Amino acid sequence: MIRIENVSKTYNGKVKAVDNITLDIRDGEIFGFLGPNGAGKTTTIKLVTGILPPDEGRIVVNGLDIETDPIAAKKTFGYVPDNPDVFLRLKGLEYLKFMAEIYGVPGDVRRTRIEELSKRFELSDALTDRIQSYSHGMRQKLVLIGALLHEPALWILDEPMTGLDPKSSFQLKTMMRAHADAGKTVFFSTHVLDVAEKVCDRVAIVDRGRILFCGTIDEMRAHFASSGSLESMFLELTADNGGESAGKENGGLS
Ligand SMILES: Nc1ncnc2c1ncn2[C@@H]1O[C@H](COP(=O)(O)OP(=O)(O)OP(=O)(O)O)[C@@H](O)[C@H]1O
Ligand SMILES: [Mg+2]
Repeated sequence: MIRIENVSKTYNGKVKAVDNITLDIRDGEIFGFLGPNGAGKTTTIKLVTGILPPDEGRIVVNGLDIETDPIAAKKTFGYVPDNPDVFLRLKGLEYLKFMAEIYGVPGDVRRTRIEELSKRFELSDALTDRIQSYSHGMRQKLVLIGALLHEPALWILDEPMTGLDPKSSFQLKTMMRAHADAGKTVFFSTHVLDVAEKVCDRVAIVDRGRILFCGTIDEMRAHFASSGSLESMFLELTADNGGESAGKENGGLS
C-alpha cells in the first residue's frame, strides 16, 4: 500500500510539479496514474520511491515512511523508471545479477527468477549482450525483470508499457492482474488509456500537479453521467480551461 498525504513538490522554486496531492493506493489493486505530459506523474512517483524529497507532506509505503525509513521501505517495492537507459556498458545478465545482489536475492532463487522472467519476456538470448546494443523495448523489459527479481509486494512502474511489443505488453498486464489478485499492489503511470480502462481497479487523473479525479472507471462514468470511454472522459477532464485551477472540477472526488 501507499499513502500519500498532502504532498507538494516545486522545482527550482518555480514549477509546482506536485500540488498538495493526497492518495491511498490499497493492497490488492492495480492503480493507474494518468495525466497529460508534464502533469506531475513522474515527479509523484519519484517522491513515492524516495528519489526526490517532498517539500511538504508525508509518504508511507507498506507501512514505512519513505523519508525516515528509506532502506526498509525500498526493499518492499520494485521500481521501473520512465527511462530504461541504465548501465549501458553492462551485459543484460550482469545488470540482473547486480540488481539481485542489491536486493539480496539468494543465488538459486536468482537463477530461477532470471530464467523464468527472461523467458516470459523473450529476452533470454540477449542477456549476454551489452545493454547498449538493446532496442528501447529490450531495455524496458530488462529493467522490468530487474525490478521484479526480489518479488516485491508493491510494483511502482512509470510508463512500463512504453516500447513493449504486444506479446510482452500482454505478459505484463497478465502479471499485474495476478499480482493484484494475490492481494499485492501495482501503481503505474500510463498514457495508454485502453490499457488503463481494461486493467485498472482504480485510476487517478492528474493535471498541473493536482488530482482531478480518483476512483473506478464506473465512478468516473457516474460522475460525468457518461457512457463513453475513459479516453473521452480524460479529454474532457483535462481540456484546457483557460488556466483555471483543476480543483474546480474536482467535485470532491479526490
Ligand atoms: N528535473 C526537473 N527540473 C525542473 N522541472 C522539472 C524537472 N522534472 C520535471 N519538471 C517539471 O515538472 C512538471 C511535471 O513533470 P513530470 O515529469 O512529473 O510530468 P509527467 O506527468 O511525468 O509527464 P510525462 O507524461 O511527459 O512523463 C513539468 O512541468 C516539468 O517540466
Ligand atoms: Mg513522466
